[in-house]
Amino acid sequence: MADNSKALQIEPAPENSYEIFRRNWDLFRNIIKNNYMSHAEAYTKLHNVLITDMPRPFTFADLACGDAYSSSRSLLDTEAAKYVGIDLSETALDLAREEFGDSHIDADFVITDLLNFHGVVEPPVDVVWVGLSLHHLGFEDKAFFMRKVKEVLADGGLFLIYEPVYINGENRLQYCERFKNAVLAEWHTLERDEKQMIIDHVYESEIPETPETWIKLAKDAGFESARQLFTDRYKLWSLFKFK
Ligand SMILES: C[S@@+](CC[C@H](N)C(=O)[O-])C[C@H]1O[C@@H](n2cnc3c(N)ncnc32)[C@H](O)[C@@H]1O
Repeated sequence: MADNSKALQIEPAPENSYEIFRRNWDLFRNIIKNNYMSHAEAYTKLHNVLITDMPRPFTFADLACGDAYSSSRSLLDTEAAKYVGIDLSETALDLAREEFGDSHIDADFVITDLLNFHGVVEPPVDVVWVGLSLHHLGFEDKAFFMRKVKEVLADGGLFLIYEPVYINGENRLQYCERFKNAVLAEWHTLERDEKQMIIDHVYESEIPETPETWIKLAKDAGFESARQLFTDRYKLWSLFKFK
């Protein structure tokens, strides 16, 4: 009989960055609707930037778009002409498609890894947006991704992200503790097991950066201007604009 003991010892791959969203989209909708991650403020900021910086018809690539609940609203009354939503979750993309059901914006949805976006979107792209998804990448992948974004952006194009940030020299574990404390203190509409699931997800897969590192990554990728525009009330996430 074959000796399978070695194979059986292999740990299953850790739950990857999108699996939780494929199975639990209602949970994430709850988080958005209750504004636990400050989607309202972050996406209002995004909307305001689009109004002031993109006063002409523009293309918008929404990478790891999720259900596009917030991004579709941030595009209302802007000059957005073309939208491409990319995500690994088919469930999320089906919901995203519904969000654009009545929209005059020409919208496409592609199921793929955000690291492949440059093979999917047609350059030049005017705006690239990533909300709460880049942090699953390690430092080198973040750097690679940012260089690719710079390559596909049009002259004068914008790259905006809303991503986790370390404060006061904390390490990853301390960041996760801060996140856990926020969830336990205030995310009251989530069931106990839902809170645990989202906390576990952050402990397993979130890799924040300091604001300075996010800015350095962008500068190293060739962006001339890099600004931190908004930080949420827990100081867990910041919105950056790179140009
Ligand atoms: C926290 S949600 C954010 C959704 C939306 N961008 C927002 O701001 O509300 C993370 C999304 O990223 C997607 N995702 C995670 N890793 C991904 C990857 N490598 N490529 C594409 N999508 C990914 C998940 O499926 C999920 O829809």
